[in-house]
Amino acid sequence: MKLDNTIVALVTGGTSGLGEATVYALLEKGVRVFIADRNEEKGLQIQTKYGQDRCRFQKCDVSDEAQVKALVDACVATFGAIHILLNSAGVISAGLIVGGKNQDQTIKTEEMNRVLGVNVVGTFNVTKYVALQMVKQQPLNEFKERGVIVNVASVAGIEGQRGQTVYAASKGAIIGMTLPLARDLGKFGVRVCTIAPGIFQTPMGAGMSDKIIEALSKASALGRVGNPTEFADAILGLATNSFVTGSIFRLDGGIRLPHM
Ligand SMILES: NC(=O)c1ccc[n+]([C@@H]2O[C@H](COP(=O)([O-])OP(=O)(O)OC[C@H]3O[C@@H](n4cnc5c(N)ncnc54)[C@H](O)[C@@H]3O)[C@@H](O)[C@H]2O)c1
Repeated sequence: MKLDNTIVALVTGGTSGLGEATVYALLEKGVRVFIADRNEEKGLQIQTKYGQDRCRFQKCDVSDEAQVKALVDACVATFGAIHILLNSAGVISAGLIVGGKNQDQTIKTEEMNRVLGVNVVGTFNVTKYVALQMVKQQPLNEFKERGVIVNVASVAGIEGQRGQTVYAASKGAIIGMTLPLARDLGKFGVRVCTIAPGIFQTPMGAGMSDKIIEALSKASALGRVGNPTEFADAILGLATNSFVTGSIFRLDGGIRLPHM
């Protein structure tokens, strides 16, 4: 699809990191952007900066189905449609299955439920209500394209490291749902794909020590971590290319997560 002011995007996790960078890149193309996030203060700041006719924020916890339904209704009531969905809201988790700081430490089952609730059920909730909207919309072009949904997994969903059982399970699930979603929605002109980022410099990684960042940088072909604007560039490409669907795209500077 061609990106201009007739296009509407919904970006979850849009007040920070990869989602935030994509919000700015879409706004720069003239796209109207609806941001959903738990961080109300930052969301309202972005809304004020760009103006409510171009950018709206609504507080939403993507793991809560009722809040997600209200979010999608609000986006459509405000901007009339949703052509692009970026499912960027997500949480990280680290912990060993056996032998944490004390040998008797293990990942709590509640932690698995919390992370799956945000990363997997959250992605599913938003995708479901946005897909129900997209299939009702007028086709945008000669390819009968109605919308594109981009999920965010992680290379950890393919080659999770020690301590990433929970996070990797959540990202593997997002990878797994991509092709069936693309197959379900293809006949309606709705495309679905997933980005699996490597290591990007965002608040999510703020807890990582310089030593770990250096080791991970060395594990990549480019010897560095990614900039969120490079992620945003990829989303613009996936939105504009009408033939992309059903695929998982690594965006990782050639990293292969080592056993460390
Ligand atoms: N940064 C990386 O290196 C990296 C690598 C691989 C995958 N990812 C994935 O990319 C996505 C974005 O990560 P990021 O680095 O931008 O992180 P981030 O922490 O900077 O941003 C995540 C955003 O999601 C929001 N969020 C969290 N839980 C939410 C919920 N329940 N409902 C609504 N919003 C919620 C947060 O408030 C935050 O604004 C995540 O899914 C993450 O797992 C990031």
